[in-house]
Amino acid sequence: MRSLDEFAGEKLKALDQAQLRRMLVVTARAGTWAERDGRRLISFSCNDYLNLSQHPDVIAAAIDATARYGVGAGASRLVTGNHPLYEALEARLARLKGAEAACVFGSGYLANAGIIPALAGPDDLILLDEFSHACIHAGAKLSGAATRIYRHCDLAHAEQLLVAHRTGKKRALIATDGVFSMDGDLAPLVALSKLAQRFDAWLLSDDAHGLGVVGGGRGSSFANGGAQDASFEVPLQMGTLSKAIGAYGGYLCASRAVIDLIRTRARTFIYSTGLPPGVVAAATAALNVIESDPAYAAEPLRKARLFTRALNLPEAQSAIVPVIVGDTDAVMKASDLLRGEGFLVVAIRPPTVPAGTARLRFAFTAQHPDADIERLADVVRSRVLRQP
Ligand SMILES: Cc1ncc(COP(=O)(O)O)c(C=O)c1O
Repeated sequence: MRSLDEFAGEKLKALDQAQLRRMLVVTARAGTWAERDGRRLISFSCNDYLNLSQHPDVIAAAIDATARYGVGAGASRLVTGNHPLYEALEARLARLKGAEAACVFGSGYLANAGIIPALAGPDDLILLDEFSHACIHAGAKLSGAATRIYRHCDLAHAEQLLVAHRTGKKRALIATDGVFSMDGDLAPLVALSKLAQRFDAWLLSDDAHGLGVVGGGRGSSFANGGAQDASFEVPLQMGTLSKAIGAYGGYLCASRAVIDLIRTRARTFIYSTGLPPGVVAAATAALNVIESDPAYAAEPLRKARLFTRALNLPEAQSAIVPVIVGDTDAVMKASDLLRGEGFLVVAIRPPTVPAGTARLRFAFTAQHPDADIERLADVVRSRVLRQP
């Protein structure tokens, strides 16, 4: 339709002018390498933090399950029946997270878009860290709850908002990334847990970038002293199977009662087809690797710290290190420059990050050779940060 195409064309023109249009670039991936325009680049733009998407055991599990059970799941798990592979995966996840039960979703995005509206509604209050992932914001919007945003990791601001808005609301939920996806820092979960308990609020942590990487591979609830504090509790531990697990899907680990409720109320679980059997089996195999080899799970953080030390940046807290460039034009140029040097480092622009904080986002994986990280740091120092 003409009016529709005109609408799309005008929107795209405005995005082009602001350097905010996003384009898909054909890129094949193998290990830490990416192949683009006939060139091999070392990729620092991949969340496969443990390179498990390429692990022989994980691939073998996917092939075996696919050969036995076929490619697709056929329907929602409530309709076609719950495949035994799911039982195994959910039991593994719950054990790793020290929770009573787990529920696997089609993706991390679908998980938050289903969990949050199943637990909170128009009579309730939701508090979000301003840098929480887009799917947490989407879940809060879908819930219809009164939503307040606190400044990034600012506990005093979160407390102020609870004092001002908790009264009169039936239930309250506080939701935050455990490891922030564009900043790489950790949420102050121990203090947030205390605050949540004081105001009878339920704490949800999204551990998309923590599982397999921090807390001995168990995620952000097990980092920064959480495990040592008897009163510490994150009753809603959500995450994804698509990053360090190397597969696909999302999950929630929680009490048996909460998981039973989610399975009967979360719309993105009920009304969406189950994951392919090969993906479920691959995720379980990946969890086996993480549980059996915590030293391997420590590697991405060690690599990230090699980089931050080389550049005198604040010490990395996770596998993600941002280098803030500021303006969108400059960040695109910096990303192009690194590509010219053989590195794939994606430029992150608004609205993914706040205006004026466009950045290079470096993601480190267990198998990045130290020598490549050192060379990358040299190039960033001399050509992007222009330090001597
Ligand atoms: C913090 C966070 N939560 C959730 C998601 C969504 O997970 P998935 O890619 O499995 O949909 C992401 C992915 O980018 C993320 O960074």
